[in-house]
Amino acid sequence: MAMDKILVHGGATLQGSVRISGSKNSALPILAAALLTREPCIIHHVPDLSDINYMLQILSQLGAEVERASGTVTIKAENIKTHAPYDIVRKMRASVCVLGPLLGREKEATVALPGGCVIGDRPIDLHLKGFEALGAKVRVVGGDVKVFAAELRGTSISLRGKYGSTVLGTDNVMMAAVLAEGTTVIEAAAAEPEVVDLANFLNAMGARIEGAGTRRIIIEGVSELHGAEHEVIPDRIEAGTFLVAGAICGQGVTLRNVKPSHLESITERLKMAGFHLENTEKTITIKPNGGAKPLELTTEPYPGFPTDMQAQMCALLATSPGISTVTENIFPQRFMHLSEMKRMGADIKIEGSTAIIQGVEKLSAAPVMASDLRASAALVLAGLKAEGVTEINRVYHIDRGYEHIDEKLAELGARIERVKV
Ligand code: EPU
Repeated sequence: MAMDKILVHGGATLQGSVRISGSKNSALPILAAALLTREPCIIHHVPDLSDINYMLQILSQLGAEVERASGTVTIKAENIKTHAPYDIVRKMRASVCVLGPLLGREKEATVALPGGCVIGDRPIDLHLKGFEALGAKVRVVGGDVKVFAAELRGTSISLRGKYGSTVLGTDNVMMAAVLAEGTTVIEAAAAEPEVVDLANFLNAMGARIEGAGTRRIIIEGVSELHGAEHEVIPDRIEAGTFLVAGAICGQGVTLRNVKPSHLESITERLKMAGFHLENTEKTITIKPNGGAKPLELTTEPYPGFPTDMQAQMCALLATSPGISTVTENIFPQRFMHLSEMKRMGADIKIEGSTAIIQGVEKLSAAPVMASDLRASAALVLAGLKAEGVTEINRVYHIDRGYEHIDEKLAELGARIERVKV
């Protein structure tokens, strides 16, 4: 499994419809939030991904009972431990989002400190600043970060960082503050739909959160949460990735089970890039519309264009006529996919955190190496239009965040195969 390869035979035309899975980045903190109550929580629409498996393993190690039946996960965290050890935590940075619920419920948590990752140094200083503002102490001992408090008290906290807001930081502080004494106001909060989804789940558990989806979230602490049932929102990044596939080589591709309002920044840009898009309440269709055009694109916190779609968009722009520029504002080092695309014949220069892409007529297939989840997806997309067979190695990156991407693309008509190694 771990060393599987994906082979993409370029030149196929995509057509038809594909069902979008539940959101990975919503599901991860929502599963962690189940630690906040002794009662069972039932979460539907949980995607089948290795990152989700890691999270469920962490929850089991912390003492929760976890059951999974296809897309539904039941978690009962009656008696829990507060130490998440390194061997699992190191596999996934999102493990840090157990800190908030453990601190909220048990008033202490110890989690191995996440290291850097290929998209850059990824600190958690803002998470810790938020916990400290609630009255917790923070210690780093033996590679672990320990947070503990005699009691948590509501207060006003700004989570503004050098690159804007923080998604998991907002989640973490929100999950600690729901059981704090008094009212917490989070300023410069992340407004991503995944934060709203978590707030909705917490409110279903008895929390009192207002303003999720805006820059100011207000949390009135309660003394206890109860079990709840919740359905995870559709994955807007998986959806965006399939839209780009439809742009690169589609003749009418429809996404089912999406929330079009979550994808506005993506569909707007695709319209500007020369495609025809149509929405219904739960579907989006993309069709060609007289030829691709270059774009100027900048990644920003929601509702701006997401960093998690930057690599995929570069794959499209690599063969759009004219000069496009793509500026990465959230993770300035997140450009590893560009050197692989250059090996496929793309004409790209990097200046600081901006990529300047001169569209070429076609890419040519090559063996390529994926560096992170979205980079791998982008290389699959680039392969769809490249001449020859593109071999994508280190497919485990894709399996972290895309549910059966090869099967879904094949259903649309792509010639794609997974080689088990
Ligand atoms: N940052 C700090 N200090 C902190 C936290 C973040 O300086 O304490 C910086 C980061 O280094 C980055 C920026 O703030 O430059 C934004 O990072 P953020 O905290 O928002 O990222 P995250 O919450 O760790 C989530 C997603 C990422 C996605 C980012 C940005 C999950 C599990 N992960 O990460 O998703 O790129 O938000 O939208 O929700 C992916 O799915 O491929 C992925 C990487």
